[in-house]
Amino acid sequence: MKLKTIKDYDLNNKRVIIRLDLNVPMENGQITDDTKIKESLATIEYAYQHNAKVILMSHLGRVKEEKDKLTSSLEPVSKKLSKLLNKEVKFSKETSGANLKNMVDNMNNGEILLIENTRFEDIDNKKESSCNLELSKYWASLGDIFINDAYGSAHRAHASNVGIANLLPNGIGFLVEKELTKINTFLEEDTHPYIVIMGGKKVEDKIKIIENLITKCDKLIIGGAMSYTFLKVKGYNVENNIIDENSIDFCHSMLNKYKDKIVLPIDVTTENGQNISLENLNGQIGFDIGIKSQELFKETLSNAKRVIINGPLGMFEKKPFDQGTKSIYQFLIDNNIKTIIGGGDTAASAVALGFKDKFYHISTGGGATLEYLEGKTLPGISVINNE
Ligand code: 3PG
Repeated sequence: MKLKTIKDYDLNNKRVIIRLDLNVPMENGQITDDTKIKESLATIEYAYQHNAKVILMSHLGRVKEEKDKLTSSLEPVSKKLSKLLNKEVKFSKETSGANLKNMVDNMNNGEILLIENTRFEDIDNKKESSCNLELSKYWASLGDIFINDAYGSAHRAHASNVGIANLLPNGIGFLVEKELTKINTFLEEDTHPYIVIMGGKKVEDKIKIIENLITKCDKLIIGGAMSYTFLKVKGYNVENNIIDENSIDFCHSMLNKYKDKIVLPIDVTTENGQNISLENLNGQIGFDIGIKSQELFKETLSNAKRVIINGPLGMFEKKPFDQGTKSIYQFLIDNNIKTIIGGGDTAASAVALGFKDKFYHISTGGGATLEYLEGKTLPGISVINNE
């Protein structure tokens, strides 16, 4: 069954709502990686070139209280979009209300409007994140057609993706189409050894995914911040590193059940650049995997046919702590191993370390790709109509 795409609609003179994943990393109001924005351009360009009134929506970060709004406005993204498109992108500071309605009503064909962070609506009873029907109806009333191109958010059932899609003629955009094609081909190939590498900071979010993924892969390499909860369970003194205390029992049972499948670091690089074995860590913070861990990971990967990487293995943004991640990426490229890089931070690490376009696929989805690989249905995709 083929999903409807933006190409299946006549967009001329239509208000086309495009849900994107513009959840980009920011520091002091500056976008530090624009991969997701660049990957969104093709669908936006197609829409305005086909004479649509283009209404863009996205979330950015997690908005729990009023003060979170200060650091999660999409306004810098609207400026970046405008620069990349070489075209004006209007910005609505409001996510609902008379002003927004007015801006939409006054749009001409070919114009683009970006609406402020959809999660600003979460302040009011998590309306966006809980897929509130009233909010979905309101947003749907602003458009004639809904296009979901937010692959990175496809595992979320929000009002701005699932809610609107339920109420309007809908389809997917070019990014979602590309992501699904690449990942489906990778899955269908079914060659082994199939190895998953996990790292990164979102420990609590991802640790449970391991439970499912580990049954599908041949080895699971865990590095970066993700590894310290496991290492604590193994009895190392990893105090001061990121530990997910709620997941201690889970890590325990995983290590008991899958001790031959899980591969963990054996040494780390500390703040002063020293290489230290875990036995001698004594509560120091590990900024990267150490040299022996790099060798161990490469040995584990030596005959791999397919690899998924989710999360960098160290603090790649700062030299020399990029070495662990970089050496594993280089090994995968040198050995021609079919690799999917999944997720914002991981994609950013691949770009920053000079590996853009070198892997089989760099996905804009972290959580979404992992859930898809687990075999779960992605609500943002399953809501889309078939041809
Ligand atoms: C991501 O960056 O993984 C997506 O944008 C989803 O963000 P979320 O985990 O805050 O829903």
